[in-house]
Amino acid sequence: MTTYAIFGAGSIGCYVGGKLASGGRNVIFVGREKLASTVGKNGLVLTDYEKSQDILAADKVRFETSPKALAEADVILVCVKSMASAEAAAEIANYAKPEAVIISLQNGVSNADTLKAGVREQAVAGGMVPYNVVNLGDGRFHKGTPGDLIVELLPETASIIVDMAEAGLATQATDNIKGVLWGKLLINLNNALNLLSDQPLKQELLDVNFRRVWGLCIKEGLAVLQAANIKPVKSGPLDPAFFARILSLPNFILMRIAPAFNKIDDNARSSMWEDLQAGRAPEIDYINGAIVALGQEFNIPTPVNDKIIRMVKEAFEQQKSPAFSGKELLDKMH
Ligand SMILES: NC(=O)c1ccc[n+]([C@@H]2O[C@H](COP(=O)([O-])OP(=O)(O)OC[C@H]3O[C@@H](n4cnc5c(N)ncnc54)[C@H](OP(=O)(O)O)[C@@H]3O)[C@@H](O)[C@H]2O)c1
Repeated sequence: MTTYAIFGAGSIGCYVGGKLASGGRNVIFVGREKLASTVGKNGLVLTDYEKSQDILAADKVRFETSPKALAEADVILVCVKSMASAEAAAEIANYAKPEAVIISLQNGVSNADTLKAGVREQAVAGGMVPYNVVNLGDGRFHKGTPGDLIVELLPETASIIVDMAEAGLATQATDNIKGVLWGKLLINLNNALNLLSDQPLKQELLDVNFRRVWGLCIKEGLAVLQAANIKPVKSGPLDPAFFARILSLPNFILMRIAPAFNKIDDNARSSMWEDLQAGRAPEIDYINGAIVALGQEFNIPTPVNDKIIRMVKEAFEQQKSPAFSGKELLDKMH
């Protein structure tokens, strides 16, 4: 049987790895001591917005804190934050089998390339997690929004994608991971706004002014992507340009066009908001920063994303969300 290692077992890693383990796969979680001890006491409880629940007793979860455990894995799902990718690649180079397959399940568009540059001969594929997972404490991880994992289709990943789906972790294949990751990045532009709002995702997104700011961020992203000749794949049923436009519609019309907004549950928050609470560095340079960097390359100004980056960095310096209202944030964009 395929052995999976979850490298960077946090919110995404524990949820994804927990689903694979619940589906009967060998899973080794590689993460930090604090979570190892929590999971060692409580096991893992995975819930989702549809009220499904998987429970893994502590003795059914193998949680390691040394990267040496990567040596046993056939598949390594990389779930560290983008800032930690280069270090993760070095650990993989040190310990993983040459034939292990590495799949990045990270946000941002550059992680698979960073991993490729740092590993030895292992195959590396990109992947995309469309949903939100929150760490509720005591080994409980909650999937708050819908969607299936998407993994880059390579000769090395074809059977893994099938195995993951058969284990009960809904996973689809793509031959255009670049477009998929840029499409997701446009959605992730709201992560920073969620942090700046200090509100649960649902509450924030029910405020049309936050959605208007999100729409401005996405429009800037689309202009930059067009200049770079990159076509973002829609993340959900709606084309990104159309999605950016409908964000400024009143709630009752938006809910009809995009019912997924109704499926966001009350617990969901962006992982960037979680980072602020936990005192961890944000991925802002890999998300909004990717738009700004591409804008600089193609000489396209990106003032809205620039401002959001500055505000997020300030919030991290002050270790506190400014808790802007939607109107306050929108006003600051002009
Ligand atoms: N959470 C979500 O809803 C969500 C949704 C879609 C995509 N994503 C993306 O998925 C990725 C992971 O996000 P996350 O929210 O799961 O992050 P997370 O909760 O911070 O989990 C990552 C874990 O990996 C640990 N780690 C980092 N380097 C390590 C190493 N060398 N060895 C062992 N453990 C290591 C981190 O510990 P330290 O903090 O101590 O470094 C942390 O506990 C990010 O790119 C994120 O943008 C997240």
